[in-house]
Amino acid sequence: METQTDRPVPIESATLDTDTIAQRRLRFPIGGAITLEELEGYESGILAQRVLREREPVTWFDEVQAWLVTSRRLVDEVVGAHERFIVYAERSFNRAVLGDHMLSRDGDDHHRLRAPYDPSLRLRAVREHYTDLISDLADGLIAPLRYGQAAELRSTYANPLAITVSGRALGLAFEDIGEVSEAYDVFASKLCDYSGVLRDIVPTRAALDDLIYRNIERIRHQPDSSIISSVLTAETPELRHSDEQIVANVRILLFGAIETVTSIILSTSWALLSHPRQLAEALADPGLFVGAVNEALRWISPVGHTERWAAMDTQLGGIPIRRGEMLFPSLAAANRDPEFFPDPDTFNIHRANARNHAAFGRGEHHCIGLNLGNLEAQIAVQRLFSQLTNLRLDPDRPSAPTGFGFRSPRQMHVRWE
Ligand code: HEM
Repeated sequence: METQTDRPVPIESATLDTDTIAQRRLRFPIGGAITLEELEGYESGILAQRVLREREPVTWFDEVQAWLVTSRRLVDEVVGAHERFIVYAERSFNRAVLGDHMLSRDGDDHHRLRAPYDPSLRLRAVREHYTDLISDLADGLIAPLRYGQAAELRSTYANPLAITVSGRALGLAFEDIGEVSEAYDVFASKLCDYSGVLRDIVPTRAALDDLIYRNIERIRHQPDSSIISSVLTAETPELRHSDEQIVANVRILLFGAIETVTSIILSTSWALLSHPRQLAEALADPGLFVGAVNEALRWISPVGHTERWAAMDTQLGGIPIRRGEMLFPSLAAANRDPEFFPDPDTFNIHRANARNHAAFGRGEHHCIGLNLGNLEAQIAVQRLFSQLTNLRLDPDRPSAPTGFGFRSPRQMHVRWE
């Protein structure tokens, strides 16, 4: 196997002839027929992934021309076998949308890009630095809601909270959180636009980069306790990064911190509102909100699937995969594998092994922000339910989570007393 330094160019994508594609359609009839639309729907997505896991756990997903992997064992194999399945690829969606950062590099390159951010995001550091900040920001967003009796929670609560916390943690002074929110909506939609038409992200990315560069310059002159500041002032040369590398990493850190955290705040709230008895238990014993967030991460994975590329001709579950082919290990399907989670379609905040979910990924690229994401969701959901009395879903505006690449309630209308 070549090392990353020997291979400075990303792996080329395989090109398939029409005969091979036709044979795959015959060999994998479910994957050959399944549509993105089905996978995106709430009920239809769960059903489609269940059927695939049972009958074609590695399938040729013809609409997107990628291998879709749905059993937990095989998903773990793909995201854990770093020699065979890599992220640094010519046609990587991730790289095309968000650039060259820790999640688009493998091996030593990846380690070097990730290392300076790790210490600030360890459990102890996160609890110490962010518990009060998150609580205060959550309370500040709930305060004006208390004057009303209805709201849409993505735009008034979950999204502004996720953006503000991530901005403060990184050290960005967001003059206009609306601008950042819009940029990340564009990135999220482009990461799921499998047609590969990416030209309209260029101005969005340029504006966001401009904002990040300005903040780096400010922090360089006035160091503070932020994550960017800790990278700029790193003591050892290996941990020091160029401004360009910092900007690219901040783009992906912000993406993780905004899209997925917004999703898990909404999905946990939606799951509890759909299970009033479990909500009552959590309100009586707030420690149970921790289990509720873990179980919601399992039940409605905010990141539906990740992206990997075969670094060599290989096999997965007995199926031959060619070098340069794309794979989608489905975290959503792995999290509902009955071999790992008995009665997987039931939401149960007492589930003993909910913490073993795969929603944060596995292996070298497992989520660097998982402690921050967990803490934000636990505090945000607990504050919301304890402060808005008799919170309930608006029956006239359904908000079930949807999406294949990213899954969450797109809007969540609620009422309270
Ligand atoms: C509940 C919230 C979150 C979920 C469900 C989530 C999910 C994930 C997943 C599944 C991966 C692995 C991707 C892959 O293997 O291809 C990942 C990686 C990553 N996440 Fe998160 N994430 C969350 C919160 C956060 C937060 C708060 C941050 C930033 C502080 C963040 C930053 C990142 C970064 C930078 C990576 C790439 C790590 C690497 O390549 O080494 N995430 N996340």
